[in-house]
Parts: sequence; structure tokens; C-alpha cells
Amino acid sequence: MCGIVGYIGPREAYPIVIKGLKRLEYRGYDSAGISLINSSGMNVYKKKGKVTDLEEATLGKDISGHIGIGHTRWATHGEPSDRNAHPHTSNDGSLSMIHNGIIENYASIKQELSNKGYQFSSDTDTEVLLNFIQDIKQNNNCSLEEALRIALKRIVGAYCILLIDKNDNNTIIAARKGSPLVIGIGKGEHFLASDATPFIEYTKEVVYVNDYEIAIVRADELILKNLGNEKQTPFITKLDMELAAVEKGGYKHFMLKEIHEQPSTIFDCLRGRLLTHSGEIRMAGIDNNIDKLANANRIVMVACGTSWHAGLIAEYVFEELCRIPVEVEYASEFRYRNPVINEGDVIIAISQSGETADTLVALESAKAKGAFIFGVVNAVGSSIARISHAGAYTHAGPEIGVASTKAFTGQLAVLNMMALKIAKAKGTITEDRYINLMKELEAVPEKVKEILADTSNIKAIAEKYKDAPDALFLGRGYNFPVALEGALKLKEISYIHAEGYPAAEMKHGPIALVTDKLPVVFVATKDSYYEKIVSNVQEIKARKGMVIAVATVGDTVIPSMADDTMFVPDADELIAPLLSTIPLQLLSYYVGVAKGYNVDMPRNLAKSVTVE
Ligand code: AGP
Ligand code: GLU
Repeated sequence: MCGIVGYIGPREAYPIVIKGLKRLEYRGYDSAGISLINSSGMNVYKKKGKVTDLEEATLGKDISGHIGIGHTRWATHGEPSDRNAHPHTSNDGSLSMIHNGIIENYASIKQELSNKGYQFSSDTDTEVLLNFIQDIKQNNNCSLEEALRIALKRIVGAYCILLIDKNDNNTIIAARKGSPLVIGIGKGEHFLASDATPFIEYTKEVVYVNDYEIAIVRADELILKNLGNEKQTPFITKLDMELAAVEKGGYKHFMLKEIHEQPSTIFDCLRGRLLTHSGEIRMAGIDNNIDKLANANRIVMVACGTSWHAGLIAEYVFEELCRIPVEVEYASEFRYRNPVINEGDVIIAISQSGETADTLVALESAKAKGAFIFGVVNAVGSSIARISHAGAYTHAGPEIGVASTKAFTGQLAVLNMMALKIAKAKGTITEDRYINLMKELEAVPEKVKEILADTSNIKAIAEKYKDAPDALFLGRGYNFPVALEGALKLKEISYIHAEGYPAAEMKHGPIALVTDKLPVVFVATKDSYYEKIVSNVQEIKARKGMVIAVATVGDTVIPSMADDTMFVPDADELIAPLLSTIPLQLLSYYVGVAKGYNVDMPRNLAKSVTVE
């Protein structure tokens, strides 16, 4: 994954790059590094750990320069260490490069270069590509740009790279394929980054670089070319993002801020789309493609992690309302198992970042086989949004905490609206039910606000159970994927081993785990499965398990059996996951905090998984 930042212009590059890297740390935080060119040459500093460790390492050093590139790493090739940190320097000392992605054929190129006498000071694939570029430049006596073009034609894999030459203090050369790159256009200055957050206070005008494009970036000039050396016209987009959206705004952690933003993010997602008074749902991506969607023979939801859980909930909703068969696929599996894709199949890709490599690659191959791709994406202008035939944004704003929270509820809101629209077009829903579900959706932001109004009970529960080594999360029907999501959240943030299961499936195995030491979290709101789940709770209590329940306000049965209860307002069962998921987000947040962990940057994870 990794975050990359570059600056060229009249300002000092160091503070801009460092601040930018901090905003991109959600993409990886194994190490950080920066290269700067000034009149006395090129300075490269790098350090294992967070950007603050890099800052410490540069105290008292020469950090001047109007051109700089910086990197925050999520290691793929070589352990997190100083020597594997980016930027890397070429053997002749002239070039410095940062890279986001994986060079798949690096081993054979490394062998070739080693035979020629090249030395490697890291285990990364990046350093191999860099020396490959240097080698081509020397052998062909050509420009850096030309050498890069030749190198890129030989390599297999994904990359976004920024490259500087210590003998040229007015050029950053960038290229991308598969990993994101956006260039901010300032007055006499340019910013480069993995996403726009590092530079939103400087400019709102951006160019999203496409795959197989090379950018030659100078203070006052931006040239885009394809790998055939033909100039491309940069397409300038105006950003709709404010600085406050990427800052903590008084909260202790981004995760907590993002959990608390949900009443407004869900509201923003529904706004202008869900027009309850006229019974209309306005979503251009669906309106323009309603025939394809309503006549789909099959819908395949493709996603990873939390987004995959949103797909599972949508499977239940779409099948119930639209009567279209739905499959939910892990993108990483879907891609590699040669799936059957027929004409008339619709793929719904769900992704917060819009950059998840597994999802992106799965979509590319499905698209090549003729599938219609509909993207449900949060990050505007991201790669998945751009390769989709049509789509609907979730409008949750930048999600910085590694654990996905507000993006998930945004996905559910969009998917519910989609299902309603398609069901209406197909005539598989009655007018009453349609209007009723619209009203239910409309009421969600207020209900989420109610849950968030007082979280002290959830905090106390978290503190009570924080030392449990394991936890089981159970739910049925629409709440089964919520249980999976609750378990994933707890794993990510608190490092407690947790498993999610359909509550009825428990008796086929996991019940063997139940002792008086095992917390079992039941998502047991009032729905058509309620009586059944009451029995499941009894089964756990009979075996002395500790039960934590998510129950509906007013319910007395579940709370009387459970050791602890977290309440959510009543809602239609199709909509309930938008509410029942909130206490589980808070539960894992408070457990993580109680254990003293960095909940925004859990170990080994990164926000945007841009490697396969
Ligand atoms: C969620 O908390 C995770 N960190 C992770 O599972 C995430 O949902 C997954 O990597 C998919 O990301 P995307 O939505 O950006 O594609
Ligand atoms: N492959 C490079 C490395 O391991 C970049 C990793 C990445 O983009 O995550 O350093």
C-alpha cells in the first residue's frame, strides 16, 4: 500500500511532505522517509516506524529544499526496517525513488542486475526497479524519462512511483499503474500524493493520473504522457473536500470521530436521493442503467473485509425485495477461480477506498468478460469508481481510521436505496412496503444519534470484558453479517480473537468453545428471527457463557437473560443493521482504548490494501 507525497515549488518541501505523510499514515506506517534536493545536493532520510520517528531522526539535519518526495510504507518485500524504508537510492547515487505497489518480476531483474555488478542495500522490489532504470539510462545514454518508459514496459505488477534526479532540481517524474496518484495544481507549484488529503489546504484543482501514464512535473509545468511517449491532456477536476474532514475535530481518535459522524454521513448519503414526500429515489447511476439492473439474471457483490460484510447484508435485502439471485464474493477468490460470468450478470463492487487491489483486479477481469460493473465507492475519483460502468458514491467523507465504520453504514444506505429502486422498477415490492422502507431509511440518522447520545454503558461493558482472550459474535438473518462485522472490528482494534457465526450454526461446532470465560455477543434485535435467537441465548446461558446482547429498546426478554445489554431503537429488519452495527463499533473501540492500543493504526494493517 504505502502513502506517497511529492512537492515542487517555491515553498520549503519538508514541512509539506511531512504533514502530507501524516495524513497518509492510514495507508501504512512501517517506516517513513524523505528525499530533498537543495543547492548542496540530495539528502535522504528514512526511519523505521511512524512519521514522528522520521521527524526525530531529521532533527538538526539539513532539511532545506524546494523539491521533495516522501513515503510511508506498508511492507510487502522485506521487513519493516531502516534499510528497507523508502526512498531508495540508485547505485550511482544520482536517483531517488519511492514506490507504492509490487513489482512481480523483480527477482529475475534483480538477478540480471546482480550479474552486472549491481549491489542492493535493501530487500525491496522497489530498489530493483530503481537500479533497472539507472541501468537503462546509462546503457542507452538517454533521459530519465525515456529510461523510465523503457523500464515500465518490462515490468509486471503495480506501481505508483515518484522519481527525482539529484542533478535536476526542477523535476519530479511520476508514473502509475494500479496504485493511485493524484496531482494538485497550485500557482507555480505542484503537489503529488496517493490521495488529495495531503494538499487540500493548498489547492482544490487536481488531476487523477491514469494507469500507464507518466507525469513530468515541474514547479510551473505538468506534462502527461502515455507509455508510447504521446502527450495526454490533463483532465482537471475540482475537489469537494474541506480540511476539517481530515482532522480529528476534538475527538481523541479518528475512529471515534468517524463513529460519531454517522448521523450526518448517513444523512448526506440519503440527501437529495431519498425523496420520501414524492416517493422517489433519485440515483443517476441507477436511473441511467435501470434496464440492465432490473433485468439482471444474477448480481454478484465483489468486495473485501467490511465492504464484503455490507455485500452480505445487501444479498439478503436484494433477494428479498428484488427477487434477483445474489452471490457475494471475496474479490481475492473471485478473481482467481475463473468464475462463470454470463451476459446479463451485474457486478456490484463495494469499496471504501476504491483502491483495494483485490477488488480492482477482480473487476478488471469481470469487465473483460463482459460484465456490467456498478461501483458503490466512498473515495471520489478513485480507481474502482473510474473503472465502473456506473455507480453511486457513499458520501461518507474521508475515512482515516483503519477500521471502517462510517463507510460501512454509508454502503448499507446506498445498497438499500438501490434495492428499493430496482424492486420498484421490477414491481417486486408493494407501494406500501416501498414507502414504509423509505421512511425507515429516512429515520436512520436520528436513531443513530440516539444510540450515540450516551455511550457510557458500552464503555463500561468494554472495560468489563477487555481481558477476554476470545469472543464469539452471533446473529441471524440480516444481523448475521453484523455479527461478522462485530467480530472483525474487535479483532482489528483490540487483537482479541473473535469469530462471527450465524447463531443457529453455533450448535454445529462453536458451542464447544462456550465456558463461563467466553463472552458471546448476540445481535438480537426484534425481527422475524427474534424467537429463535432467544432460544440461542438460552443455549449459551445453559452452558454458563457470558452474554452481551444488542437488543431493541423496550425489549425485556433478551436483557433479562443477558449479562449486559446495549440498546438500539426499533427498526424494520432490513434497515436494522444500520443501527445494530453501531454499538459493536463502539464496543471494539472502547476495548482497544482500554487495552492501550493505537486504534487508528492497528498493527500490521493499512487502510487501503493496494497490493494483491
Ligand atoms: C475494515 O475495518 C478493514 N480495515 C478492511 O477489512 C476493509 O474493509 C477492506 O480492506 C476493504 O477495503 P475497501 O472497502 O477500501 O475496499
Ligand atoms: N513493495 C514495496 C515495499 O515493500 C512497496 C510496498 C507497498 O506499496 O505497500 O517496500
